[in-house]
Amino acid sequence: MSKFEIKKIFNQYLKVKCDPCNIANLKNIDLFDSILMGNARTAQFSYLLNLGAVRTKDMRSLAAFNEANIASQINAYKRYEEVEGDKTIYLKSDGEILMPLGDCLKARKSARKFAPIPLDFDSFSTLCKYSFGQSERKEEYGGIEVSCRYHASGGGLYPLQIFLYVNNVSPIENGLYRYQVSSHSIYPVRKDFDVSRFLNNDKSFDLKNFSLLVIYEYDVNKNYLKYGELSLLLTLIEVGIISHNFELCSSALKCGACQIGGFDKHYAENILNIDGLNSHIIFTNICGRRRQ
Ligand SMILES: Cc1cc2nc3c(=O)[nH]c(=O)nc-3n(C[C@H](O)[C@H](O)[C@H](O)COP(=O)(O)O)c2cc1C
Repeated sequence: MSKFEIKKIFNQYLKVKCDPCNIANLKNIDLFDSILMGNARTAQFSYLLNLGAVRTKDMRSLAAFNEANIASQINAYKRYEEVEGDKTIYLKSDGEILMPLGDCLKARKSARKFAPIPLDFDSFSTLCKYSFGQSERKEEYGGIEVSCRYHASGGGLYPLQIFLYVNNVSPIENGLYRYQVSSHSIYPVRKDFDVSRFLNNDKSFDLKNFSLLVIYEYDVNKNYLKYGELSLLLTLIEVGIISHNFELCSSALKCGACQIGGFDKHYAENILNIDGLNSHIIFTNICGRRRQ
């Protein structure tokens, strides 16, 4: 029988014999009870318990952001955040998702093994466009024309930056890239990224044949000033929305994908040179050509 030595995890269904960090409370079930009884504190429970609490200053900042039309102004200048130069790779934007939505939903399943076939540039472009790219739709708010996306975002603030680790996409060189939404392009960040280390050496993923990883960075300053403590919930929901779009589009493009919650956050933050304070890596998806 497996011997579990999982630290700091509480779940009544885990076969955890002991929590060596906590000599006063050896069984996880006890720890779980203690938290529910209010005798032990965890960040997750306090966040959930306080989710509905709105402070006066939260209301003030919500109103200020709306009245000053800040989301539209950020949107109008988004393109100037992007790097366009010799190294920028512009993706194709005329691809379509032809599979009916019902069939995409039926075909979707978490895929961890992939066919040894590269993802072609057209499909890669289409996948990026419909998962996290900009749509053709424009809206006008207070005299400013705003570019929309295929996914929703709390207050239209789009707090997520997408990074792509390309492994098997023809003819793109392998490496880490920043996705640039306004110009629908990718820009190289660096080549040395140890995917196996990032995925905690999880052998269930086919790291030889996968085509790409999507890595989601949350920049707290993009929505915290408006939404306060609610911003984390909104951002985590947005990651879910985008990554589900990604999975459905993958299905339509003869690929398989999987959402991955188990990854080395700090390793990715170090490699991407992001501070781990204002900016955090919060989720990842893997994708590759579907096996027959
Ligand atoms: C938020 C989230 C995190 C996940 N993290 C992982 C993961 O770390 N490793 C993994 O192999 N699968 C992961 N999955 C995939 C689930 O295991 C999978 O969705 C589930 O078993 C249901 O199977 P299906 O997606 O094929 O319907 C994750 C799914 C979600 C929604």
